[in-house]
Amino acid sequence: MARSDILVGVEVGTSKVCAVVGETGREGTLRILGVGSAPSRGVRKGEIVDIAIATECVHDALADAETNSDAEIGSVSVAVTGSHIRSFNSRGAILIPSERFEIDEEDVSEVAVKAREVNIPTENAFLHSIIQHYYVDGQDGVLNPIGMVGRRLEADYHIIHGVKTRLQNTLRCIRENGVQLDEVVVNSLASAQAVLDQHQKDLGAVVIDMGGGVTDYIVYENGAVRHSGVLAVGGDHISNDISLGLRIPLTRAEKLKVEEGSTVLGQGTPGEMIVLKNDAGFSGKEVEREMLNTIIHARVREMFELIRKGIESEIPLHLLGAGVVLTGGCSLIKGIKDVAESVFDLPVSLAREAGVSGPKSVLNNPQYSTAIGLIKFTQALRAEEEDPGLFGSVLQKIGGIFRRKG
Ligand SMILES: Nc1ncnc2c1ncn2[C@@H]1O[C@H](COP(=O)(O)OP(=O)(O)OP(=O)(O)O)[C@@H](O)[C@H]1O
Ligand SMILES: [Mg+2]
Repeated sequence: MARSDILVGVEVGTSKVCAVVGETGREGTLRILGVGSAPSRGVRKGEIVDIAIATECVHDALADAETNSDAEIGSVSVAVTGSHIRSFNSRGAILIPSERFEIDEEDVSEVAVKAREVNIPTENAFLHSIIQHYYVDGQDGVLNPIGMVGRRLEADYHIIHGVKTRLQNTLRCIRENGVQLDEVVVNSLASAQAVLDQHQKDLGAVVIDMGGGVTDYIVYENGAVRHSGVLAVGGDHISNDISLGLRIPLTRAEKLKVEEGSTVLGQGTPGEMIVLKNDAGFSGKEVEREMLNTIIHARVREMFELIRKGIESEIPLHLLGAGVVLTGGCSLIKGIKDVAESVFDLPVSLAREAGVSGPKSVLNNPQYSTAIGLIKFTQALRAEEEDPGLFGSVLQKIGGIFRRKG
């Protein structure tokens, strides 16, 4: 069956719902045709809290995307996140039957099943089972065991799972709009496809996607996913801190953060004030710039420190030679790179979409990394399905309730 060369990635984020439409080329190229977006409602900390309203927002984003890309959207890949998402590393092992010594595709599927024979809560579903390394009779670093001679096949996987019902709500918002689901991918894994190239994955890198309600992160080492996590804290919490700390309405705090906020301390004129004009329901006020930046700095530093602790429990930071890549709307906060550098003691860069063409306004906007990454993930998966010889891809995933349409 001929595959459509139009792929769409949808993120139902806490701040915005966006749908990115891309056209894939035979040589693995990707061109963004257009984006649709709508302010998000009915979503809190990356999860649906009002399905009817969130479905409307998805509708608006899809309609906008169709107009802007001049394409008809029949199916989409969608990102999922939330504090319920968990991950762990697991090893599977099987013995190859004695009548044959050559490892085949079925053995590889079986070893993946073995790695998932661990207890996860009954209400949870597997989302991804990402191959890290194969071992054949104790030999490590095997990229593709198929066809190799061996008696014992082992494999390490990074497994990601989450609460089924909480995940299904996001999927329903899509299906209610009459579009089919291609792939369901966790935010961090999607974003990493957009902002990391293979070289960075090989050297070792962390991607931190700082959104409005959640911060998703993922760690690559030696080309494989080693760790991932979700912090239920994002830019909304920074705005909330500003609102409480400076005693101004939340909407003004959000605007102040975006227009004037920075994490840089001690560089302005001492006592410098920012004038907030009066507005409906707000009589205006002057706030101290240093105070604003102190509030932002404290929350951002705390977020990075929590992530650093999570990563260090799995892998020494010095193994991550390509450092940290920041994306998501919050990565636009001025000075944020310096805070990350001081917390992680690693090189830090702001995301740039790798190997994608299209409007600069889309490619340079870190708020679209997840949706663009969804397209790249789906594109890579399809290429792998069409050419199973591309074995060893980290994109290998498992079936289950979230498998694409039949
Ligand atoms: N120029 C900017 N400076 C500072 N913060 C910004 C800027 N632009 C956007 N933000 C913040 O980025 C956040 C939204 O980012 P993003 O669009 O990546 O979130 P989301 O994907 O909708 O949410 P999530 O992934 O958490 O569910 C908001 O907190 C917003 O205030
Ligand atoms: Mg997001």
